[in-house]
Amino acid sequence: MNNLISLKKISKFFSNNKKITVLKNINYTFSKGKIYSLMGPSGSGKSTLLNILSMIDKPSIGSLKIENNEINFSETLINDKIRSRKIGIIYQQNNLLSDFTALENVYLAGLTLNDDKKDSIKKAKIIIKKMGLSSRENHYPSQLSGGEMQRIAIARALINQPEIILADEPTGSLDRSTAKDVFKVLYKLKNKNRLIIYATHNRFFANMADCKLEMIDGNIKLLNARKKK
Ligand SMILES: Nc1ncnc2c1ncn2[C@@H]1O[C@H](COP(=O)(O)OP(=O)(O)OP(=O)(O)O)[C@@H](O)[C@H]1O
Ligand SMILES: [Mg+2]
Repeated sequence: MNNLISLKKISKFFSNNKKITVLKNINYTFSKGKIYSLMGPSGSGKSTLLNILSMIDKPSIGSLKIENNEINFSETLINDKIRSRKIGIIYQQNNLLSDFTALENVYLAGLTLNDDKKDSIKKAKIIIKKMGLSSRENHYPSQLSGGEMQRIAIARALINQPEIILADEPTGSLDRSTAKDVFKVLYKLKNKNRLIIYATHNRFFANMADCKLEMIDGNIKLLNARKKK
């Protein structure tokens, strides 16, 4: 079965002064081997949805299954483990710890799963090399360009070879040509066992996906599904 993440009747409310409903009764299944783009106006719930998929936030109602296992949102330790093992997350910016070098940022993420520092450093170096950034290993985030930071963030998201990659406007803070380079790197990560979902405001990048989704009125609408290539 190709279903990797399924959402059943997911709703999310926030209540400060007044209750707002951000996600409304979403039923959707994400399959492995595919790349999904998620568009929608600012405030439509893209980040809220991605945060639920990564178990960083919990839905108000509904259930989330990852590989057919229902997630219990109160089991935070178990969910942290699942996240470390299965999910790589990339944000728009500030992905990296500012007091650590590029190499440290990447290999420390590897230690969450496996305590072998030497092995983690070795793996981190290989991935950073694939990102074309070996010469920047010892740079601190403040000494990297925006595009370099995002490529290091991708390297960090990849160290545990996750089956799921969630990216929330990964190129939102980059110029168009650097953004293109980062998307090239992201698309190279596609494989038959992996699911990639990214939120973007950019129609050009959204159109590259196998499945184009849009958040409308708190729900997910499939705009197109590309034929298998
Ligand atoms: N912790 C919170 N408390 C109250 N309201 C929240 C909270 N987090 C998000 N919201 C509200 O939920 C709505 C959806 O926010 P979300 O960040 O998911 O939008 P988005 O589609 O990612 O927008 P953008 O494109 O600007 O990133 C917004 O109206 C936001 O104000
Ligand atoms: Mg957002």
